Parts: sequence; C-alpha cells; structure tokens
Amino acid sequence: LATGARNRALPVPGGDHPDLLELRSLDHALAVRDRLGSAGSIAIVGGGYIGLEIAATARGRGLEVTVVEAMDRLMPRTASPALSAHVEKVHRGHGVGLRLGEGVARIATDGDGRIAGVETTAGDLIAAELVLVGIGILPNDELAAAAGLETDNGIVVDSCLRTADPSIFALGDCAAFPAPDFGGGALPGRIRLESVQNAVDQAKCVARNILAEPAPYHEVPWFWSDQFDMKIQIAGLTAGSDRQIARLDEEKGRLTVYCFRDGRLAGVETVSNPGDHMACRRLMAERLSPEPAEVEAAGFSLKTWLQAMRG
Ligand code: NAI
Repeated sequence: LATGARNRALPVPGGDHPDLLELRSLDHALAVRDRLGSAGSIAIVGGGYIGLEIAATARGRGLEVTVVEAMDRLMPRTASPALSAHVEKVHRGHGVGLRLGEGVARIATDGDGRIAGVETTAGDLIAAELVLVGIGILPNDELAAAAGLETDNGIVVDSCLRTADPSIFALGDCAAFPAPDFGGGALPGRIRLESVQNAVDQAKCVARNILAEPAPYHEVPWFWSDQFDMKIQIAGLTAGSDRQIARLDEEKGRLTVYCFRDGRLAGVETVSNPGDHMACRRLMAERLSPEPAEVEAAGFSLKTWLQAMRG
C-alpha cells in the first residue's frame, strides 16, 4: 500500500471556494504557476513547506505576500526554534508579511463571490487576489482500514514495513512505522515521515523484504527545502530533541543546528551548509555521535570530527 496522503481542507466558511489554490498534484502546480503570473498579491494559509516555498517564489515574481501561520513560529512541525527564527528573518527581509499565532476565520469574497482575501482569527482582513492553502496532509489509510488493518495516523507497520497481514506492506507518507534507532535509544511510538527520501528508500526496503530475507528499515531520514537563497536541509530525526546547539554565520547566511536527544546527536538542520548535512547523514548511518561539549567548542566542524573518528 503506497496510497500517499491528501491535503487537509481549511475548515472555515469559504474553505471550499473553488478558486482556492493548493499544491499536491501536477494540475495544482500548473494552476499555481498560471495564477502567480497574473496576480499582484497572495495570502498563504500555513507557514510550513508549501506555504514558505510558494511565498519565496511569489515574492520573487514581485507579488505582495502574506503568510498566516497558526503556531507562533514557522515550520513548527519539523524545525527547531533556531531554524524557524532564521527562516522568519530571511522571509521578512525579503518583504514577506508574516502573521504568526493567527488562524483564518473565513475566506473573504467580494460582491460577485470572487476571492478577496482572508479574515484572520484576530479579525483583520488581509486583502489578496489569490489565496493558497497549505495546512498539512492526512494519510490515505482508508483502504487499509476497510481491509481490517490497524491504522493510527497512518497504516501501522512493523520495522520491516509489514502490516499485521504478512502479505501486505505499507510505505511512504501513509505508513506509520517504529523509528530506527540510530544509537541513542528508540523513539517511543511510531512515526510517519513525509518526504521523498522516505518514500523512495522505503520502496526499496519493501522490495527487498518481499524478494529476500526481511530486514528492518533503517535509513537515515533527510529532507530539503529551497526558499529564496536558502538551501534548508535536515538530516536525522530532530523531533523531540532535548538540547539544541545553533551555529550561525550571519555574513554567509549559514546555519547549523545540532539537535541532541539523551546526549546523542538526533539530527542536524543546516541552511546553505551541505558539508555539515552530508557529514551528519554519514555519521548517523554509522551510529556515531559527538558529545554536546565537543560541539560547543569553538571552531567545531562535523566534517572534521567525522574524518578524525575514521582515522
Ligand atoms: P506542513 O505540515 O509542513 O505545514 C502546514 C502548516 O500549516 C503548519 O505549520 C501548521 O501549523 C499550519 N496550519 C495548520 N492549520 C492551520 C490553519 N488553520 N491556519 C493557519 N496555519 C495552519 O504541510 P504543508 O506545508 O501543507 O506541506 C504538505 C506536505 O508536502 C508535507 O508533507 C511537506 O513535507 C510536503 N512538502 C515537502 C516539500 C519539500 O520536500 N521541500 C515542499 C513542500 C511540501
């Protein structure tokens, strides 16, 4: 089962307006490209990956852009506070209007029923010719549920990505699986990863498990997002980290956030720092971890540390 996910609908008056933009399919992408080419302003609901990538693109095309994010920081589902703060600064620096900690009360329309903007939960009207909604996804697990398989925020599978029925596997956005242990102890419960890397690597794992001796899924997660001139990359499982050490090189626009859980490196977030990103993926694959105190030392480099460990 690789049934994927669907976009969450906006549960407010006007949330089903036919001219609302979203992004999931090729048709959506073509519609967004088309409409961005002929509009002067856009209001974006959701300050996650869809919202911010579209915000950067729209701003680059000269549109007036406002993002409304319900939580008090950007990309709250996956980013550390330090990464959120950096991304916020860069978006504001490019003139993106950000309304954090605010929801949307309704989609505003003009006398002819055409979209005119959004009204926030604070009661403000953000006038815009276009409105795009990017408020997350829901796993398509109905088929599995109808087949009598367990679902719990996704299709429940074991570490080999197999459901309780030994002849049915699930993978990608729709699969809820036990997180691999990269050396710092297992995360409690199951996780669901929403990324291209996860879908591709889980497909390879399932194919192997069908054709050969079953082996657990253990790939190091990684993810990227391009916004303005930032290449944002995340390696590892940073959610639930209990200590974060951030290194910002303001001049070069480079950021590295080391995220630790129980004293071991759980993942690394980088902005425009691909060397640290690749080093993190390699060391996590080898179940290696620097100590927080080493990372705190002046001049620490993950790449150099990894080379030293390998002798
Ligand atoms: P997301 O989960 O990243 O962000 C959704 C945001 O909307 C969250 O910050 C949430 O707090 C906010 N939100 C939820 N309800 C809201 C409301 N009523 N009002 C205002 N804000 C609200 O999901 P997003 O951006 O929709 O992306 C969908 C999927 O596509 C995700 O799985 C994402 O990972 C994936 N994606 C991946 C990209 C990449 O690989 N670079 C790029 C774009 C999307």
